[in-house]
Order: sequence, then structure tokens, then C-alpha cells
Amino acid sequence: MNPLDLRAWLGQVETLGELKHVRGADWNLELGAISEMNVKKELPPALLFDEIKGYPKGYRVLTCSTSSPLRLSSILRLPLQKTHRDLVEALRGKPAQWKAAAAKFPAAAVAGGPALEHTQKQVDIDKFPSPLWHEMDGGRYIGTGCSVVTRDLDTDWINVGTYRVQALDKNHVALDMVAGKHGRIHYERYKAAGKPFPVVIVLGADPLGYLISGIEVPFGMCEYSYIGAILGEPVAVIEGQITGLPFPAASEIVLEGFIAPNDERTEGPFGEFHGYYPGKAGKAPGVTVERVYHRTDPIMIGSPPAKPPNDYSYSKAVMRSALLHDALVAAGVSEIKAVWAHEIGGARMFNVVSIKQRYAGHSRQAGHILSQCGVGAYMSRYSVVVDEDIDPSNLQEVMWAVATRSDPSVDIDIIQRGMGSKNDPMFVAYPYDAPFSSKAIIDACRPWDHIDEFPPVAEASRELQDKIRAKWKELF
Ligand SMILES: Cc1cc2nc3c(=O)[nH]c(=O)nc-3n(C[C@H](O)[C@H](O)[C@H](O)COP(=O)(O)O)c2cc1C
Repeated sequence: MNPLDLRAWLGQVETLGELKHVRGADWNLELGAISEMNVKKELPPALLFDEIKGYPKGYRVLTCSTSSPLRLSSILRLPLQKTHRDLVEALRGKPAQWKAAAAKFPAAAVAGGPALEHTQKQVDIDKFPSPLWHEMDGGRYIGTGCSVVTRDLDTDWINVGTYRVQALDKNHVALDMVAGKHGRIHYERYKAAGKPFPVVIVLGADPLGYLISGIEVPFGMCEYSYIGAILGEPVAVIEGQITGLPFPAASEIVLEGFIAPNDERTEGPFGEFHGYYPGKAGKAPGVTVERVYHRTDPIMIGSPPAKPPNDYSYSKAVMRSALLHDALVAAGVSEIKAVWAHEIGGARMFNVVSIKQRYAGHSRQAGHILSQCGVGAYMSRYSVVVDEDIDPSNLQEVMWAVATRSDPSVDIDIIQRGMGSKNDPMFVAYPYDAPFSSKAIIDACRPWDHIDEFPPVAEASRELQDKIRAKWKELF
């Protein structure tokens, strides 16, 4: 059994030389700005903040945990990979295997663990250094790299999702669960039944926890089982004293409580994953926290969104690309070479697939499914299909293909009233009464019916380039 111990993983990251210690930073904007500027580096280290202004030594915040190929491969228990290309290759096919194996690894309840070192019955969440991440945020966010645990009203389905958590006062937080997210669906059912909604919020654990709670694990499946399939052993969980909801036994900080029916609180605004503050303050369910469990000298995981690249855009690009690849294969699209969900679109809004064309209509089929499959539909604005000679993760190559292999009047399909979001920055300009969005499928493949006459690429052949590289080593 695995208690999802963050400290064991941090030890590994320290050995890899990818952990930087930062002392004396202020929770008030400094943690956010330092983390944001750090993540723009080529290979950003993880940052462990300690001696945070106004807080006791030992009360720490970890950021940039998932933003390098080495760290992400270690979190996913893959052989360690130094480059993003090797990581994507190592990950290929794995999500489908994990999904298939998940049922064999249900979480296992244990009586105790490090998470229970301290229990607050007189709740005071101000004890923890929740950052004010961005200048225009509506408040301090205690939960970003977190996992929110909920239970279905009528079944024993436990869901674990990453939803942002705003600290409101000593014992209240607001939970922003977008419509359609599984935690939101659970909440709506309790609300309709007029029942208090039990919630547990995990604010720090092995980052595998929030990595998986932040991606689209299938409806009805528990993320702990999926994590168990990655680990090859069940997650060891403790059941909360008042809700019975499970949290990893080595969790750093856990909030437990209820959302009373119709307890809606002012929440936000908050800088978002696509790089904007898409709205003003809104309403979100308010959690009354009745218990806090925490380890000695707890470490909160922060994963603040912002204009990409941001804290989690790299990990989302890698994970969502792998999931989209699997979804296309599962839908029967043949000859998929690679998929890339670009960080510039927050790994949602600008996705590219490369295929080896085999039949008329193949490229449109790939583009429409990329745009509409379960993993991809939410906020997928542009879906681009390119030939197999184009690297879908290289924007320069992708846009070259768009510029030279597409005829806009026939090669751009528009889907009206697709799945959008109230968080879409364009929402202000849309004419709809609900969060729809139009979607473009750009077919940037050589036209199938003229593929044999299509002009050859004016570029030195691979063989010639290899020869030149070998001969002119000092130049290349
Ligand atoms: C760091 C981070 C923060 C996120 N914040 C939110 C959020 O505030 N609200 C939301 O609905 N989804 C948020 N997401 C996206 C969801 O976690 C993601 O869609 C996930 O699939 C939700 O779980 P579910 O599929 O079980 O509903 C966030 C993801 C990450 C990685």
C-alpha cells in the first residue's frame, strides 16, 4: 500500500538536483511572482518555500512540482526521462493501460498515518500560509495543487478532482467546481435533495495525487484506483472522522467539512490557466470546515495558474496529449503518429494531431474527434491535423503546415454551439445565453485527392543533413 508521501518524493527530487529552497518570501504576492517567473525558465526547478513571512519555520509551500520531464516521469513512476519527447514516448499507451487496470487497485483503508499527527477540532485554517498568488485575485487561495474528495449520493463512487479553494475565514473556504465536473455533479445531487454535502480537501501529498485528480479520469471511476494502477499497489487511505471520506494516509494537510444546501459565497476572481482573469467575483459553494488534520511542519502544494507557460501547463500538455492519443485510437482513428495539446492553449484550446493519411476523409475524422472526444471537448477552440512529417509539438512546423497546406475556404470546419466555459476569456463577446463556444477544425494535411502532385518540400534530405552534420561537426 502507498500512503502518497510527498516527503519521500521530495527526497528523490533533491537527489536529482531539481529542488531549490527559498527562505523568507512573503505569502502576499512574492510566492506567486517568484513561482511564475521560475516556471518560464527552460528547465524550471521545483521550489520549496520555508520561513514564509509571518509563519513559523517549517510551514512550507511547494510550487513548480510537475514542470520538468525528470520530475514528471518520476511522479508517473516511469523510467526517468530528461527530454519532453522521451517522456511522451514513454507515456504512450500507458493511460489506457492504467484505466483498464484501475478496478484491481481500490484504495485500502488504514487506521492511521502521518496525516493524523495533529487534529484541529477548533478549526483555524489561517495557521497555514495560503498565498495571494496574483495581484488581481479576489483573496488568498489555500487550494490550487489540491485534491477534492466527494461521494455520489446514491452509489459508492468516490471522486477526487482538483478544484481551486479560496480561504474565506478561519473555518470557511469556497470551492469553484465548474459545471459538468464530477465533483460538481455530486454536489448538485445533494443540493437537489436538500442534504449537506460532505467534502474532504487534500492540500499536499505525493504530486501524483493532484496530477491525476486534475485530469479527466472517466465518469464513475475513482481517481485513487487509477493512481493505484500507476503505482501497482493500492493507495492507503484514512477515512475522515465526520464524513468517512478517504484521504491519503501521508497527506500533509486535510480539510474536512460540509457544504450546507444553498450556502453560496463570493469567490474569485482568480488568474486562470489560459492567462486571463475571465470574470469578476462570482458565487461558489461554501464549505464549513469542521476538522483539520495535518502533519508536523506541513507542506502545502501550490499550483497557481497564469498566462502559459504556468505551474501546471507542462504536465497538463503531457498528460492530455497522451489521453487524447488514446481517445483517438479508441474511437477507431488509424495511423495516429502523435498528439500535442499546446501549453499556449492551456493544454485545452489549441491541440494538434499528426497522421499518416490513408483514405479520403481521414484527416477530417481525426480533427473532429480530437475536437469532440470526452477528454478534448471542454474549451477545445482549435484542433489542427497535420501530416506525419510535421512534429505536432513544434508550433513553427504546425503553423507552416497551416499556412502552406490548407485552403481556408474548404479546410476549416466550424462547429457551432460546442462545449465552452464561463471561464473562456471570449465569453464576454459571445452571443449565447450559456457557455457554448464555436470550434474550428483546421485540416492542414496535403489534400488527399492531390497528394501525389503536391509539391515536394524544399529542404535538405535527412540523409544529406546527417552527412553534413558528420562532416561539419564544428558548425553543428
Ligand atoms: C492546478 C489545477 C487547478 C484546477 N482548478 C480547477 C477549478 O478551479 N475548477 C474546475 O472545475 N477545474 C479545475 N481544474 C481542472 C480539473 O481538475 C479537471 O478538469 C479534472 O478533470 C476535474 O476532475 P473531474 O474530472 O473528476 O471532475 C484544475 C486543474 C488543475 C491541475
